[in-house]
Amino acid sequence: MTQIKKKINLRSDVMNQSTGQSWVYSDIVKDHFFNPRNLLLENPRTGEYDAVGEVGSPACGDVMKMWLKIDKPSDKIKDLKWRTFGCGSAIAATSMFSLMVTEGDGLKINQAIKIKPQDIMKRLGGLPERKIHCSVLADKAFRKAINNYFRDSGQPDRIIVESGRIIDKRLNITDKDIEEAVLEGARDLAGVQKKLKAGVGDKEAIPELEQLIRFYAEKYYGKE
Ligand code: FES
Repeated sequence: MTQIKKKINLRSDVMNQSTGQSWVYSDIVKDHFFNPRNLLLENPRTGEYDAVGEVGSPACGDVMKMWLKIDKPSDKIKDLKWRTFGCGSAIAATSMFSLMVTEGDGLKINQAIKIKPQDIMKRLGGLPERKIHCSVLADKAFRKAINNYFRDSGQPDRIIVESGRIIDKRLNITDKDIEEAVLEGARDLAGVQKKLKAGVGDKEAIPELEQLIRFYAEKYYGKE
């Protein structure tokens, strides 16, 4: 057993010293981490970009900022730059996302917002399960920037509204809270209750809660 563990640890790129948990990164992830594409280190000049979006991750407290250049007549994304105080996986995922969105002549906004964290992970050759929420950071910053663009360019009817629906009425827990809990690693009712106490005082919420946990677990981690 110790020998097996040793072998696994020899293959791993990262190991948590206290839990002994380890994981491996694909060569593509490492490439994007060490050579991030479209990273913006200096603050841009005022007006240089058409939109900016900034988000933080409730899962780890990391921050992502994104700048976009958009060609209004064609609705295409001509440039995407970003900066993060996030981990290696967030850097690699956002770097890959920036390429996907600006590929060819640039994607149209409607195509770009369809890119899912799973699409980014596929292009990266996978991400360790505990790092999936890092790829969501790029997606969220992008949506925020796009909404700011819609607002500032006189297209308020195109703003993407992601309203939370209340699932647990006693604690006002929404479907978005449940999604975040799953992204933070909760995979079943017990895991979500440990984080949120969801359904503890509102038993009627439990069937819908379980359904949502299954939905988000499948969305981010695939079918078991
Ligand atoms: S972005 Fe926070 S751990 Fe990856």
